[in-house]
Amino acid sequence: MSDKAILSLDGKKFEFDLFTGSENERCIDITHLRKETGYITMDQGFGNTGSCFSDITFVDGAKGILRYRGYPIEELAEKATFVETAYLILYGELPSADKLRNFSNSLREHAPLHTNLKHHFEGLPSDAPPMAILSAMLNMVSCFHPEVLDVHTKGAGFDRTAALLLSKVRTIAAWAYRMAVGKPFNHPNPNFSYCSNFLHMMFSEPYQEYIPSPVVEKALNLFLVLHADHEQNCSTSTVRVVGSSRANLFSSVSAGVCALWGPLHGGANSAVIQMLEEIKESGRPLTDYIKMAKAKNNTFRLMGFGHRVYKNFDPRSLILKKAVDEVLHELNMEDPLLDIARELEEKTLQDDYFKERNLYPNVDFYSGILLRAIGIPLNMYPVMFAIGRMPGWIANWHELHAHKQRISRPRQIYTGSNTRSYKPIEER
Ligand code: ACO
Repeated sequence: MSDKAILSLDGKKFEFDLFTGSENERCIDITHLRKETGYITMDQGFGNTGSCFSDITFVDGAKGILRYRGYPIEELAEKATFVETAYLILYGELPSADKLRNFSNSLREHAPLHTNLKHHFEGLPSDAPPMAILSAMLNMVSCFHPEVLDVHTKGAGFDRTAALLLSKVRTIAAWAYRMAVGKPFNHPNPNFSYCSNFLHMMFSEPYQEYIPSPVVEKALNLFLVLHADHEQNCSTSTVRVVGSSRANLFSSVSAGVCALWGPLHGGANSAVIQMLEEIKESGRPLTDYIKMAKAKNNTFRLMGFGHRVYKNFDPRSLILKKAVDEVLHELNMEDPLLDIARELEEKTLQDDYFKERNLYPNVDFYSGILLRAIGIPLNMYPVMFAIGRMPGWIANWHELHAHKQRISRPRQIYTGSNTRSYKPIEER
């Protein structure tokens, strides 16, 4: 196989280097294309553009493969805790017992928020969107820890900052919820696991500590493991773009939260439930909604369907579909939305429009039903996604520094007016 790509352009031939990744993914390095030819490439939405080399997560969309640091998502989902998974994503290896203990202690140590941060929560209206609070507070946390602002890649400084963020994101999320429902903030309890502690901060009441059932704790753990990283998706790319200006980790992940918020990305998990609720309330047949999703003149889309990379199935969706069944069964619950979701999936699998475009349920399709079952309120779903994605954002920010990535600065093709002269206001 050739180790160069040959481009024939304007009667000349140009050569470009080829690279092959550890899973045989191939790319043409066009770094010098503009310098040599005067052309740039156009790839709106970056569907075909590699922005970095990365050792963290591998996705094969055609085969439905997802691996964190080489470990299949199916194995991690079954056997690993979120804390172990976060360590794996951050440091490249599963932790030894000692390392896991130290990491968990560090998470415990960093769980409380600075007292003065409480006042910022208190000044917010109760209907403030939790994703806006999360993004703002993540940036705000850095004000109380100025020593971590110039931390880049190595040593205790980075370890501390990573643990601080992984831990505090959970406290901020729970407090955003408590503020919205007008209830007192619950402080983290160092005796609880990562997931139980979050649920305690969400749901404990004065004189009545919330102790989650093992089923609920396991379900939350699974949700977080499945969301822990997903290579260069919209929010992670945002973290990398922001971080590439050497912006600090807090502002970079805060921007990641904003990117995640949109309904085409992490906001899809709540949008799916809203859609299923609407279908249920309307009493209209599912085929009406499928028809609307297919109509060219209608902006309606089936939320939780489709993916830029997965063109066969999203392995996370398969795991979640099974888990939702088990969790509802073990909690002795029924959810009419699950029946609608299953029927919708079945119908779209038979439908040419969805088949031709390779549109299958993505991670967000069943995750909302799982979050409902464990009692998480709807407006917190994208926040849950953000807690889960934190290890991936931090690891990508770290890697970008380790690889000394250049500042992100795409080009454009200008299509606006040609030069014209300023006219005084009375002549316009
Ligand atoms: N419902 C109906 N049609 C769809 C859907 C959908 N959910 N998704 C894609 N399509 C159609 C498009 O209209 C387009 O049709 P066309 O070729 O006739 O124009 C074709 O499928 C390709 O779609 P694109 O929008 O070009 O695909 P893209 O890769 O840009 O977008 C995305 C992927 C954003 C996930 C899209 O499928 C979508 O909007 N899905 C619904 C929102 C959603 O579930 N987002 C969560 C994604 S997972 C995550 O971020 C964690």
